[in-house]
This record gives sequence, C-alpha cells and structure tokens, in this order.
Amino acid sequence: MKFATELIHGGAPIDPEHGSLSHPIYLSSTFAQRSMEHFGKYDYSRSGNPTREALEEAVAGLEKGAVGLAFASGMAAISSTLLIFAPGDHLVVCEDVYGGTFRALTTVLKGWGLNATFVDATDTAAIAAAIRPETKALYLETPSNPLIKITDLKKAAVLAKEKGILTIVDNTFMTPYLQRPLDLGCDIVLHSGTKFLNGHSDVLCGFAVAKDPAVGQRIRFIQNAFGAVLGPQDCWLVLRGLKTLKVRMEEHQASAKVIVSWLKEQKEVAKIYYPGLPEHPGYEIHNAQSAGPGAVLSFELSSYEVTRKLLEGVKLSAFAVSLGGVESILSYPAKMSHAAMPPAEREARGIKDTLVRLSVGLEDPQDLIADMESSLR
Ligand SMILES: Cc1ncc(COP(=O)(O)O)c(C=O)c1O
Repeated sequence: MKFATELIHGGAPIDPEHGSLSHPIYLSSTFAQRSMEHFGKYDYSRSGNPTREALEEAVAGLEKGAVGLAFASGMAAISSTLLIFAPGDHLVVCEDVYGGTFRALTTVLKGWGLNATFVDATDTAAIAAAIRPETKALYLETPSNPLIKITDLKKAAVLAKEKGILTIVDNTFMTPYLQRPLDLGCDIVLHSGTKFLNGHSDVLCGFAVAKDPAVGQRIRFIQNAFGAVLGPQDCWLVLRGLKTLKVRMEEHQASAKVIVSWLKEQKEVAKIYYPGLPEHPGYEIHNAQSAGPGAVLSFELSSYEVTRKLLEGVKLSAFAVSLGGVESILSYPAKMSHAAMPPAEREARGIKDTLVRLSVGLEDPQDLIADMESSLR
C-alpha cells in the first residue's frame, strides 16, 4: 500500500462483527477470562487494549517497524524507552535535543545512573569521538529543535552498527510521511504524537517504534512495568487524526514555504532556520533522507523588543508551547521548549533570546503573513 492508503486502511481492519468503519473504543480496564489454563489475548488494559493496539499497529506500520507502543505523552515514550538501558550505560545525544528530554537525561535518568554526552550531531566525527565502551545508543533529532540542525542518519546508523549500539531518533518534526529513520538503518523511532501525528492540539501522546521485535519487546516490558500507557479514548482520537496526516503535512509544508519566502524579505528577520532553504548547511543531507522540509521553522529577530512585539501581537498564530496542530503556533524556545535548559547551556547551543519557532498550521498563509506583518510594524 502507498502511504495515503496505509493511513486509511493500514491500521485496524473494518470491524468484522458490525462493519463499523471507525475502530471501537474499548474502555474496559479489565477483560473477563473463560479458562483457568488459557487467558485470552487481553487481560488488563495496562498490558494491552484493543483500541491502543490498533493505534500501535497503525503507527508501527507507518514507520516500517516491527513493534509500536503508545504512551501517555512524548516524554513518557522517551523516558520509558530510555529505561531499556541499565545504570552505568552511556548515551551520545544530539546537543540541541528537546528540552524535556535534556531535563529527563540530566536529572532523573542521570540520578538513576544513565549517563549522556551531548555532541553536535551534524558532525559524525564528533559522535564517533564521544562513543565509549559503555555507550549503548545514539539519541538523535533531525531536524533538531529549535535550531533545525540536520544529522546524517545513514552515516550515524552505520557508525552505530560498527560499534554494536542502537540508534534512536525522535521523528516528531518530520512524521513518517516525510522521513522514515528505520528505513535509513536506525533502530528505534520516538514521537511526541501530541504534534503532527494527532495534529489537532487535543491529545497528549507519544510513540516508540522498534525495527527489531526483540528491542520492541524490551520497550513493551517497560511500558507495562511503568504503566505510562495512552488511554483508549485518546487512542481513538489519534487514530482519527492520523487518517489526514498526508494531506495535513502537504498543506502545512506548502504554507511554510510561502511564509519562509516572506520572512526572507523582512528587515526585522536576522536569520531563518529551515531545511528547505538551499543555504541551510544541512540542505543536501536533509533532501537525501527525507521527502520534504516540513512545517517547523525558526527565525531570529533583530532585537528583543521586536521579538516581544511579534509574540505578543499575533492574533491568528497562537503564542504557545507545542507544534504540529492545525493552528499555527509561534513559540519562544528560551522560555518554552528549552526553559529546562540552563541559560548558559542554551546560549552555548545558540538558542538566543531573539529566536522564535513557528509551526505553520492550516490557515491560509496570506492571512498568517498579514497577521505577523501587522504585529511587527
Ligand atoms: C521533538 C520533541 N520531542 C518530544 C517532545 C515531548 O513530547 P510531549 O510534550 O508529548 O511529552 C516534544 C514536545 O514538545 C518535542 O517537541
């Protein structure tokens, strides 16, 4: 099946009993058993639930993985996946990793004994240099957040295979419509499904998809042991949201391109970070490993005052945390996605106080431009 067809028909089949096109929501927390010797497929919803399973299979199929697992948030997916490692293990992590992941790694997981070295992952030699005997995985985001840096996933995965370690990729910004890390040799894909996968700013959810069934079973064990699962009603909303992923991504991306062209002409805009721009240092690598630049971009403004005018002045784009919804969202990484990162670390990574991130929604791009224009002037 091609991607668009898989979105509609790849997950749960039409309900054989009643013919319902929409997958039923199984709200039951537990399932009655008929035999003392042989329990049925489901026994308790933390361990397995038919609505969650339909969603997990749908996302695993889209990412071309063997096992998909749905969690209560992106952070739940990320933290649970990182618990497949053991105290004393070490990870090499891209330096502008999502702030919440940075926080989990540098506080909770560090306290538990999992160590991380943060590197500029655009430089494969820097990744290689950070690998130690106790390193168990590379943890990457490409494009990264919020500086939209590009990591060569094929090269990273080859390096990881040579060293016998896993490659984990947070694919939130791209979605499997635009980029499939497992096809590029990586081992685990993570998502904040809260973003484009669900797409409607009405569910918090996360996913882990593993290429190798054995790795998937390790994550499944943690999912059940820790219990940060996604509830069936939310699973159903995401199943619905997923069906329009292709058309949403196409529209989001087309509008992002129009807005980037406009931003390029604005004197208040000092720098634009978008992998669709030929002058972006990762342009060629991104083009080779993905089907498009996506709809998230960052830009630096000429001063703090101009930044405030834009963020506080816009009426159509929400000034908010998050991305990937049908509504455009302008966010301020220094105080939002990267607030968990100490100011010195943030500065060192180039996340300035004049940097804003735009997730382009499904409004008409000309309306979005007019809105930004009137708040800038
Ligand atoms: C790239 C990325 N990964 C993970 C997360 C965490 O996901 P959630 O907010 O669903 O826990 C986010 C949230 O903004 C994100 O942008």
